[in-house]
Amino acid sequence: MTIKAVVFDAYGTLYDIQSVAEITEDAFPGYGEIITQVWRIKQLEYTWLRSLMRRYQDFSAVTRDSLAYTLRMLGLRHDVETFDRVIEKYLDLDLYPDATAALGALKPRQLAILSNGSPDMLNALVRNSGLDRLLDATISVDARKIFKPSPEAYALIGEVLGTKPDEVLFVSSNPWDAAGAKSFGLNVAWIERVTPEAMALACVENELVAPLALFKAIRTQMDELGFAPDHRIRTLAELPRIA
Ligand code: LAC
Repeated sequence: MTIKAVVFDAYGTLYDIQSVAEITEDAFPGYGEIITQVWRIKQLEYTWLRSLMRRYQDFSAVTRDSLAYTLRMLGLRHDVETFDRVIEKYLDLDLYPDATAALGALKPRQLAILSNGSPDMLNALVRNSGLDRLLDATISVDARKIFKPSPEAYALIGEVLGTKPDEVLFVSSNPWDAAGAKSFGLNVAWIERVTPEAMALACVENELVAPLALFKAIRTQMDELGFAPDHRIRTLAELPRIA
């Protein structure tokens, strides 16, 4: 079966979620790294908890709530302006350096994002980064009011693009997302943004205690969920070879 569409996860795959670290450090000197890591961990956790609780709120609410948790947990007092300044970075995250060229090289296949992000967040992100010129669709799970890795979320790809699961290559750096997409029946390329070698080195250098090493330890290596990806890549530039 030929690949008709290549569909990307947004946060951590095309967009560097670690790029909030500069603004968190600027707003809360000395706390930038721990805020950045705990914020993302809680953000993901809240998507799964809300999905299981059947209490969906969109990703902008989840992103605010997880930042509020993080600042409260660290005992950091703040005003509304500071909070909003940090949150706003989510609408203008840095693209990974390999993203734009990789998307361009994959044309004329259909190109899309399927993300937990809310439509407002994703539209701003895609516009601010210029990817709107390359993408055929930006699909938000908000249409189903449940987050990935629910099968209902991945089903949106076929509904929007008119593709069968085996005609789609789904690309994600998030191991849980790669496993979820594979379980749904998509072809999956897992991009190892943190290689096992870099992971092991970070653990040794940081004696396993630094927040960034902890984040990498629990969120970047392939999960034990019984669904291995079809491809493991190290840069998006490898996609034309497999799509
Ligand atoms: C996304 C996040 C969860 O769906 O990575 O884009």
